[in-house]
Amino acid sequence: MGSKERFHWQSHNVKQSGVDDMVLLSKINEDAIVENLKKRFMDDYIFTYIGPVLISVNPFKQMPYFTDREVELYQGAAQYENPPHIYALTDNMYRDMLIDGENQCVIISGESGAGKTVAAKYIMGYISKVSGGGEKVQHVKDIILQSNPLLEAFGNAKTVRNNNSSRFGKYFEIQFSRGGEPDGGKISNFLLEKSRVVSQNESERNFHIYYQLIEGASQDQKHNLGIMSPDYYYYLSQSETYKVDGTDDRSEFHETM
Ligand SMILES: Nc1ncnc2c1ncn2[C@@H]1O[C@H](COP(=O)(O)OP(=O)(O)OP(=O)(O)O)[C@@H](O)[C@H]1O
Ligand SMILES: [Mg+2]
Repeated sequence: MGSKERFHWQSHNVKQSGVDDMVLLSKINEDAIVENLKKRFMDDYIFTYIGPVLISVNPFKQMPYFTDREVELYQGAAQYENPPHIYALTDNMYRDMLIDGENQCVIISGESGAGKTVAAKYIMGYISKVSGGGEKVQHVKDIILQSNPLLEAFGNAKTVRNNNSSRFGKYFEIQFSRGGEPDGGKISNFLLEKSRVVSQNESERNFHIYYQLIEGASQDQKHNLGIMSPDYYYYLSQSETYKVDGTDDRSEFHETM
């Protein structure tokens, strides 16, 4: 079978672009890897495997393949049946946990702005959708998902590389019942960039929460807490950056609350 032909078990109406899995490259060197990633990226495929490792390239635009349709498609499917996807990795991990009864771990690494936080949220969202459970479990899921805006308000800030840069490391643990329903969670934070509170580089901001408070607090809250405009505060005005494109501090304040 020629390399461009599809195997019977592969999804149809999916355009072939480069190779899905870079172990299939005939020559493996940096140029070949970068070229394959680039070719796929140009065709709007952000995910590519190298064996069990998933590479994700930040598209900086909403891709159409994160809907309920994909959640359905990747559920219980083997890795080679569908195009590479973070849902495939997550599903694989979830099944392994259920079948082997063993702890699973995803390590997400990459430079600032690479898309680690967004990837982690896709993983949590997928698990939340495919795991069952009644009202109590839904409550746990809600807490897990809703911890994100809260953590980001106090731990993320605009930097020159990423408007929503996580300025801390985190280890996020989700505990499951034997039946695979989330029944608890634990977040360990480490290395919060505390120095940002008192000093920011040009074009960077302090932690989101300060701007959210100033923009989103009610008149009463502002009065009771004595909140002034941002230029009143030295630590919010030294870098002269208040507004961030694509960030609505007011609506994010309500989410944080
Ligand atoms: N899969 C994606 N689809 C669309 N946009 C994305 C995706 N991944 C990342 N982005 C965009 O890139 C921005 C930066 O991504 P993200 O915050 O996940 O980076 P990060 O790796 O966590 O960086 P840092 O180390 O600074 O925290 C996001 O706010 C979003 O606008
Ligand atoms: Mg991040």
